[in-house]
Amino acid sequence: MKLIVVSNREPYKIEASRGRSKFEKTVGGLVSALEPVLREKGGIWVCWGRKGQKTPLEFKVTDSFLIKQIPLTSTDVYEYYYGYSNETLWPLSHMFLMRTRFNHNYWVGYRRVNRKFARGVMEIYQKGSKILVNDYHLALVPRLLRDMGVSDTIYFFWHIPFPPYFMLRFLPSRRELLEGILGADVIGFHTQHYADNFLECVREILGAFPDGDRVYWEGRRIRIRVVPIGIDVQRWKKFCADPKVKRYARNLKKNLSAEFVGIGVDRLDYTKGLEEKFRGIERFFEKYPSFRGKVSFLQIAAPTRTKLEDYMDIKRKTDEIVGMIEGRFGEPGWVPVYYYYKNYNDERLASLYRIADFALVTPIIDGLNLVAKEYVISKDNEEGVLILSEFAGVSVQFREKALIVNPFDEDEIAEAIYMALKMKPSEKKERLKALRQIVEEMDVKWWLSEFLKDISA
Ligand code: UDP
Ligand code: G6P
Repeated sequence: MKLIVVSNREPYKIEASRGRSKFEKTVGGLVSALEPVLREKGGIWVCWGRKGQKTPLEFKVTDSFLIKQIPLTSTDVYEYYYGYSNETLWPLSHMFLMRTRFNHNYWVGYRRVNRKFARGVMEIYQKGSKILVNDYHLALVPRLLRDMGVSDTIYFFWHIPFPPYFMLRFLPSRRELLEGILGADVIGFHTQHYADNFLECVREILGAFPDGDRVYWEGRRIRIRVVPIGIDVQRWKKFCADPKVKRYARNLKKNLSAEFVGIGVDRLDYTKGLEEKFRGIERFFEKYPSFRGKVSFLQIAAPTRTKLEDYMDIKRKTDEIVGMIEGRFGEPGWVPVYYYYKNYNDERLASLYRIADFALVTPIIDGLNLVAKEYVISKDNEEGVLILSEFAGVSVQFREKALIVNPFDEDEIAEAIYMALKMKPSEKKERLKALRQIVEEMDVKWWLSEFLKDISA
């Protein structure tokens, strides 16, 4: 069986240096989850290729893992990626109506590029392949593939929150979007809530009548499945056991001159709630002055979609509030917040997670959030505390053992940090052990086999 994974985002940025190609993993949950699977199982990854790129559009990563890129023009990228995907569907799905732009050209570009992707898949499709289409960039691809003659099961996974009817109804192209997705035979979401939203939209917008987890549409039966994605647990454990990673973590901890360390790792996206997180940190230092000089917080803010005004806006606001906290609380010899606007690789992230006494994962809303899972698995001494937004999809899995907060409530964030610092080691261990078990049992291999399993019976 040939696995064909289709996503907008390419798994690697490739740089040629001294005649050799250097592969650097791109940043984002989808690639973090699927790249290790393709490396291990093999398959073809169909993704975008940007105009002017110097690397070939088709190349092998390993003998059994091939990348095929779909060449896009600058207009394609502008209308389909920045426009419809990231200025229309992304904010709408994350409930940011005021940031949602409705523009007919974006929709025209989106349709055009979805057709390019579908044609690209058809060039490599053979009967018996498993096709897994991913995310909001490619919602029309399942239907297009079916119309182009794919007779095998088509799987589609929507990795971000699915909007409720009262949001999706604002979208002029809502009907075509849903019909595009319903071209798949199996449609997946991270939480039941998102699946319910989808079913509600299908009922209200298309007039279809879902029956439990099935939708009957144009004579076909479509299954809706809730399968939260996981991480490659073995890979993270390997990083954590690596002496280099351990050494780096030890040295870093020594150099930080803080008794306690908190960590945050996010793309610098307005959905990630960085401004709100920093308000919570500010409140913590205000309420608990005895911790000044003792706690430092490290925030990685990975650059993302930097050409869009909304992303420039959130960067300005984040820079400002970090500066304000530094100016207000910092002292010679102690830095309250270390803030890095750059990407880190997994080994470096593993070191940072390991030294952190607590992690603040506090998105305003998030499809799932893999950082929470990476933190939990990297703390193998079981002495870390996860502070988690109730609006991250992963909170459904973690709600019993993480400290759950409302990201809009700065007092609640401040109290959670205080609780984490005061928590008895035995309680930390008990909580983290339970969280680790969930991450280990539902890792990315489990996700793939569970989502792709034959459920025709
Ligand atoms: N990540 C990374 N380098 C960075 C920041 C983040 O590799 O500098 C990775 C992180 O390890 C995680 C992914 O990006 O695997 C983010 O996934 P998540 O599900 O948390 O959020 P998303 O970015 O997909 O919205
Ligand atoms: C989210 C989406 C992914 C996307 C990632 C990074 O995780 O679900 O599809 O790849 O964000 O965003 P980017 O726009 O850089 O691909």
